[in-house]
Amino acid sequence: MTTFLSGIQPSGQQHLGNYFGAIRQHIASQEVEGEHYFFIADYHALTTTRDAEQLRENVRELAVTYLALGLDPERVVFFRQSDVPQVLELTWLLATVTGMGLLERAHSYKDKLAKGIKPSVGLFTYPVLMAADILAYDATDVPVGKDQVQHVEMTQDMAGYFNGTYGEVFVIPKARIPEREKLAKVPGLDGEKMSKSYGNGLWIFEEGKALKKRIGRILTDSRPPEEPKDPDGVLLLDFLSLFLDAEELGEWRERVRAGGAQAPGYGHLKARLIEAVDEHFGPARERRRELLADLGEVERILEQGAERARERAAATRDRAYRACGLRG
Ligand code: TYM
Repeated sequence: MTTFLSGIQPSGQQHLGNYFGAIRQHIASQEVEGEHYFFIADYHALTTTRDAEQLRENVRELAVTYLALGLDPERVVFFRQSDVPQVLELTWLLATVTGMGLLERAHSYKDKLAKGIKPSVGLFTYPVLMAADILAYDATDVPVGKDQVQHVEMTQDMAGYFNGTYGEVFVIPKARIPEREKLAKVPGLDGEKMSKSYGNGLWIFEEGKALKKRIGRILTDSRPPEEPKDPDGVLLLDFLSLFLDAEELGEWRERVRAGGAQAPGYGHLKARLIEAVDEHFGPARERRRELLADLGEVERILEQGAERARERAAATRDRAYRACGLRG
């Protein structure tokens, strides 16, 4: 049986990278037979957030985002990571079989060091907690964007060390990334990877003037519309490719390639992009507003999810405890 599991950090507004790389896959997976666990990684968020009210606000926002986009809490176990303390118990067991070297090789940790962030022990051991998240629910398939693949591979290693030492306790999971490169690694407004920490994101519920302003910031150059251009080098077309069907996208690309009097300027591409974002997220924006007015219901959904998640994680924890001798 397939067990889907993934988590997202509640670190502010979710951007198009989170949506196309992850959230959309999570919601689509509920149509596939199997079990589904999706959660808000609030323990992980503590490695970067120090403002308690902000964290609470970010958790609410992320819960509302998933539900507005169509996550069905009847089919999906949707919960807050910190409502399942058993993952911390598993984190310790995994930490005791994991070498420092494995964690020192983590790209995301090395990137943060390179940016001058002074690492806490929590930031260093972040992948161990992530491994516990995945292994606690016997997940088989972990839908994530490309930047998280290494963490899933590290999870395979940690599960392997534990199983090799104590017997077959954990199921070995695999990462699932979107097939299209542009979805697995959505570019930001500046052409680098879209990321909360780079400030180059586009919030999925941005609308009106604010949306126009953000899209106005997408990197262009000063070449005139008439000049024929390689469409692969036009960042706006990458953004359009997230939303348009193949036929319409092909037409825009062809017109950019051909140049001449009929070629669209960057302003045209931006206008089409704004329209496409409005079409794609318009209905979810409305649902988001409704949900924000009924946060009691959102909380109830999370608590219900937590109960189911705890049950599953406790069974895995018991199995792991027995295997390593913490219980008879
Ligand atoms: P986080 O919160 O940084 O990102 C959430 C999801 O969004 C994907 N993503 C992207 N995909 C495509 N293009 C982009 N530009 C882009 N930016 C982000 C990420 O790959 C991710 O799937 N450590 C995780 C959270 C986590 C987790 C887990 C995930 C905690 N425990 C267990 C899976 C399983 C994180 O910080 O993701």
